[in-house]
Amino acid sequence: MSKRVAILISGGGSNMLTLVRSMTGDHPARPVLVVSNTPDAGGLAKAADMGVPTAIVDHRPFRGDRVAFEQALHETLIAARPDIICLAGFMRILTPGFVARWQGRILNIHPALLPKYRGLNTHARAIEAGDDAAGCSVHLVTAELDDGPVLGQTPVPILPGDTSDTLAARVLSAEHRLYPAVLRQFAAADPASRPA
Ligand code: GAR
Repeated sequence: MSKRVAILISGGGSNMLTLVRSMTGDHPARPVLVVSNTPDAGGLAKAADMGVPTAIVDHRPFRGDRVAFEQALHETLIAARPDIICLAGFMRILTPGFVARWQGRILNIHPALLPKYRGLNTHARAIEAGDDAAGCSVHLVTAELDDGPVLGQTPVPILPGDTSDTLAARVLSAEHRLYPAVLRQFAAADPASRPA
């Protein structure tokens, strides 16, 4: 039976789009829900256009009460019964309590070669450090930010004259190839053989 995938976004949702498009034919998973924490996320309309159910769990009315926001998010997810949750440009930090409820089932894409450059402004930090390469990583989400086991990585060269914008665009193209490949492999694997 196909694995059920929920995708969490905050913005344009280009990674979400590539994941949804990949889940056809003999792919072991299907998209069942796209959730955004921002009502104006561009990705919501794109998901709806592709026939994927969407939901909004706006974090702002919770006014910093992260646990209450996550309870609402959890209830929205429970209703969709996902086997796998993909964070795809989802810009809220998840608490250890939320992660524990979905342990081993949340993937994230991060625009850096982890363990380098956890957190934000990854491209500017890589350029500033004089690195030869940047890249992207898909990892399992654990209680620590951007710290779970890495499931796949793609290095991307940093070219002379790169700005964080030009580098981000080149890394994003690599993200669009990496995330669907890792999701396919993850969905096909026996859950008992996955990293915890
Ligand atoms: C992507 O580059 C993703 O790696 C990054 O946000 C962008 C979202 O683009 N995620 C993070 O920085 C997570 N900390 P998208 O909405 O077009 O997929």
